Amino acid sequence: MGIALAGTGSKLPSKILTNDDLSKIVDTSDEWISQRTGIKQRHIVEEGENLVSLAFEAGKEALKSANVEGKDLGLIIVGTSTQDKRLPNTACELQPLLGASDCACMDVSSACSGFVYALSIAYSMMNTLDIDYALVVGGDVLSREMDWTDRTTCVLFGDGVGAAVLKKSDNEAGFLSFDIGADGSKGFALYDNSYGDDRYIRMDGQEVFKFTIRTVPHSIEKAVKRAGVHKDDIDVFLLHQANLRILEAVSKKLDIPLEKLPHNLERTGNTSAGSIPLLLDEAVKKGIAKKGDLILLCGFGAGLTWGTCVLRL
Ligand code: UT7
Repeated sequence: MGIALAGTGSKLPSKILTNDDLSKIVDTSDEWISQRTGIKQRHIVEEGENLVSLAFEAGKEALKSANVEGKDLGLIIVGTSTQDKRLPNTACELQPLLGASDCACMDVSSACSGFVYALSIAYSMMNTLDIDYALVVGGDVLSREMDWTDRTTCVLFGDGVGAAVLKKSDNEAGFLSFDIGADGSKGFALYDNSYGDDRYIRMDGQEVFKFTIRTVPHSIEKAVKRAGVHKDDIDVFLLHQANLRILEAVSKKLDIPLEKLPHNLERTGNTSAGSIPLLLDEAVKKGIAKKGDLILLCGFGAGLTWGTCVLRL
């Protein structure tokens, strides 16, 4: 038996903050943000919205598209670094809202790699604990962690959540490989030290950029090899949406046509753990990722962490 993707869902907050809006808050411009990142706008939570409310909507949609009920879930995992509360975890808060009960519930904190980390844990737990259905959510509300006077970070990030239902599969569909890792010695490059003097996200953008260009192609190659396929066989590469220049550099380095790396960062900004499941849901809805396609997901970010997987839809 394999483990396959059964359905997807997503939720973005309704409030949109454009680059022009930001240029009224900090010393920046639409031209700088667009040229350096490709981002044009991002979604930001308003009063009444939080991680759980977004995750509930995304999870509900994923269950519906998988034709699975909350009560069928044996596991809920949420990849996030921006829980609404320290305790209980986000997955426990979602459980009764989604009509699930008794199932295992946990959050995984691996920043922008959180969704792929969570998928790999769900894959393992479904096998070892004989679980039929799992809900894997990835999302963050980074606007709450932002220093809105720091132009080097506040123009980059946005809020959003995506979700996927996994199920046991007895056909060709399913996960073929994972490559998961971290380099904790580079933690200084992207951090949010809520317990210290400075409670905001800080990033050495160039350090993270260099790490990404080095690590992501290597991780993709490893996951592709482990899956026993060739990179040309992959139909769609869904990479973490941090910067269009990163997608262009990876496409060039691995000699993958840029058309195989769809993006939505121009509309969402960098939504951290939400970025891959948001893009996955969009790719499925738009028919960019179709049943039978071989797809690759790759996340990278604070830690510094990375996570890649290959699956057949
Ligand atoms: O999700 C986790 C993963 N994160 C990433 O992968 C992010 C990786 N890093 C990046 O995407 C890029 O490094 C950034 C988009 C963050 C920055 O782009 P950059 O090309 O590396 O710019 P830079 O930091 O070298 O800054 C260039 C200039 C500087 O001015 P000077 O020193 O040349 O005078 C900055 O002060 O741009 C200035 N600058 C800005 N100007 C206008 C920095 N931020 C802004 C801004 N608006 N928002």
